[in-house]
Amino acid sequence: MSMDLKDRCIVVTGGATGIGRSAATELAARGASLAIWDIDGAAAEAVSATLRAAGSPCVGLGVDVSSASQVADAMRCSVEFLGRVDGAFNNAGIGVPTLPFDQVDESDFDRIVAVNLKGVWLCMKAQVRHMREIDGGSIVNNASVSGLVALAGQGAYTATKHGVVGLSKTAAVEGAASNIRVNAICPGAVRTPLLRHLEQAGISEAALAAMSPQNRIADPLEIAQAVAWLLSKQSSFVTGVALPIDGGWSAQ
Ligand SMILES: NC(=O)c1ccc[n+]([C@@H]2O[C@H](COP(=O)([O-])OP(=O)(O)OC[C@H]3O[C@@H](n4cnc5c(N)ncnc54)[C@H](O)[C@@H]3O)[C@@H](O)[C@H]2O)c1
Repeated sequence: MSMDLKDRCIVVTGGATGIGRSAATELAARGASLAIWDIDGAAAEAVSATLRAAGSPCVGLGVDVSSASQVADAMRCSVEFLGRVDGAFNNAGIGVPTLPFDQVDESDFDRIVAVNLKGVWLCMKAQVRHMREIDGGSIVNNASVSGLVALAGQGAYTATKHGVVGLSKTAAVEGAASNIRVNAICPGAVRTPLLRHLEQAGISEAALAAMSPQNRIADPLEIAQAVAWLLSKQSSFVTGVALPIDGGWSAQ
């Protein structure tokens, strides 16, 4: 087992399931200590308990990333538990029903912006302020292939993910002098509960797979391994990148 994240103290948001849970498991296997933040605090703590039982220091916290006060409290608790936070995977995100952008409910639009974009901003704000005091760190934000190209019927989601890419690049430029690296990842379709929004809209698994030249849906571990590399010192000269992990979808 590679221990390239030994002694690293990392926050994973949305870590109770899907890509976040897979990333938390991979980061812990590589030696990291973790704070798992999720709106479902009980599920975050259940993942933490599993990782603790396997020998990794880990705490699960109930946090809505769209709430400034909850993010500030979670950051305080995480630093208290871990001693410091020198890595973060800002992954929490939601989907909305698949509709032409002009038919999306205002409340759905506001909620997705609050979680997917404002949530990343709030988390990064707390993390960067702390990392400046401890001589740096590495942040990975989960955007999407929808942060790079349009996906019809996903206008609100696509807007938030383009926003995450822009915010990540800006934070990378601003953070470089403080030894803070910031990158975004842009996954294509990944087998997680989030895909149900597309499936409910009648977009089949085969149609989703066909979006990428590899003609398949990713396993969450394929995303987790890229996250682990971006959080490790092995990617020390990589910052401000929006990395497609999409089987070639955005290359077309
Ligand atoms: N699944 C895909 O195909 C895919 C592709 C590209 C990008 N993504 C992105 O990956 C990220 C994770 O998606 P996933 O597929 O694992 O989804 P998921 O629904 O399986 O997991 C999302 C997690 O985030 C948590 N969460 C939701 N709202 C939250 C909030 N306000 N505060 C804190 N936690 C919250 C959920 O409880 C859940 O544990 C999202 O940002 C998503 O946009 C997913």
